[in-house]
Amino acid sequence: MNVEARNFRTDRHPAETYEEILERDTRPIPEHLREGPVPDIGTEPVDVARYIDPAFARLEEKYLWPRIWQMACREEEIPNVGDTYVYEIAGRSLLVVRQKDGSIRAFHNSCLHRGRKLATLGGCKNEFRCPYHGIAWNTDGSFKDNPIAWDFPQWQGKDVSLPEVKVGTWGGFVFVNLDKDAPPLEQVLGPLPEHFAGYGYEDRYIHFHVQKTVACNWKAAAEGFMESHHAITTHPQLLPYLADVNSQYDILTDYVTRQFSAQMVPSPYNDREITENEVVQAVLGVGSRSVVGGAGKDAMNVPDGETARTFMAEFTRRSLGADDGHDYSAASDAEMVDALLYNVFPHMSFWAGFMPSLVYRWRPNGHDHATSIMDIYMLKRVPKGQPRPRPAPVFEIGLDESMVEYGPKAGLSPGLAAVFEQDMSNLPHVQTGMEASEIGVCHLGRYSELRIRKMHQMLDQTIAEGKARDAAQAG
Ligand code: FES
Ligand SMILES: [Fe+2]
Repeated sequence: MNVEARNFRTDRHPAETYEEILERDTRPIPEHLREGPVPDIGTEPVDVARYIDPAFARLEEKYLWPRIWQMACREEEIPNVGDTYVYEIAGRSLLVVRQKDGSIRAFHNSCLHRGRKLATLGGCKNEFRCPYHGIAWNTDGSFKDNPIAWDFPQWQGKDVSLPEVKVGTWGGFVFVNLDKDAPPLEQVLGPLPEHFAGYGYEDRYIHFHVQKTVACNWKAAAEGFMESHHAITTHPQLLPYLADVNSQYDILTDYVTRQFSAQMVPSPYNDREITENEVVQAVLGVGSRSVVGGAGKDAMNVPDGETARTFMAEFTRRSLGADDGHDYSAASDAEMVDALLYNVFPHMSFWAGFMPSLVYRWRPNGHDHATSIMDIYMLKRVPKGQPRPRPAPVFEIGLDESMVEYGPKAGLSPGLAAVFEQDMSNLPHVQTGMEASEIGVCHLGRYSELRIRKMHQMLDQTIAEGKARDAAQAG
């Protein structure tokens, strides 16, 4: 792989760049938002077998999911001793448990007797007693008792603790890794914690959490949220205020990529000039994250000489501050209104900035390569001086259930639910269209789909490393 950084400016759309838009903002550009590395990673097509062949899903089950750091839950979901979250992915199941000393440990959720899951639901536990024959483990994974101990001479004097997995935390999230030799979480997150340091992720709570089952491979679902150039066709209502083609895509490390899209700036694809007031009205119509606390539409006229972007940034500073009691007066315009998405390989996305943050996670749906589960969280700052609100429970939206109908019941604004519905409406047809492909490959844009290509290259690398490790152990 040629990872030599090069300047792609001449290879991009001629519209101004994200950084050039920020030059006009009212506050200095935060250094971490400036353009990052854009390595040349090629233009090779991607084989559709990666999405439609169950054999590829088996490779991922063997070499990907057991080897990567993955967000299991939020710390706020297991605040008390014994609180347990059952996290599952691709046939694996883990018990993530708060310990007496406040730490968090995680164990494989499979009875050492005949394999029954020890728990299928989370909650506060004082033991993990298997519902099948009653053998029990303590919440620290140590063996507790066995009603049929007389018949288990093979366990006498042996360590029959539950096998444990690695746990790490960042920003109020609990991460797990099934690989005992995995690099530390900090190494994988790389610059992300530093870039997010001002946004108070650990001081946020789950405002909503949707689990949407989607009729496509998990990668196809993830890729629907890794570039902005589908907006022109899939989300035309965003064009008055989304600078889609101006988006910045960076590969910060092997694991961390990101995309920044300016908002409150019209897309260059609009077929006529959009006035500053039209930008604001379009935002209000869609109900973007930046309209917190609300205001009458009539009160939202951009004063002469001001731009919609600076107007909305200031409006958001004040309305968000009124809502949560924090002071946003020093926050840059970009951090108040833009779409700033960081992805961590292979399947997590965290929105940066001061606004209520979206967080995504994509997982295979059990062993099925052709369906997946997309978790959509919205995290809000705990209001200053207030007790932490209870995290919203998971709201499941099924395969054939619409985001427009059920999203608002989960807490999404109707406008946001409509945007997700537009995204979801493509995905089953991506899967079946790939199956119908005569050429058997997908072609990715060189710049705007850089992050998708990087994900595939890392996936290949991870699988190759796993195979090499197996070969070394066998040899
Ligand atoms: S399978 Fe768990 S006690 Fe028998
Ligand atoms: Fe989208």
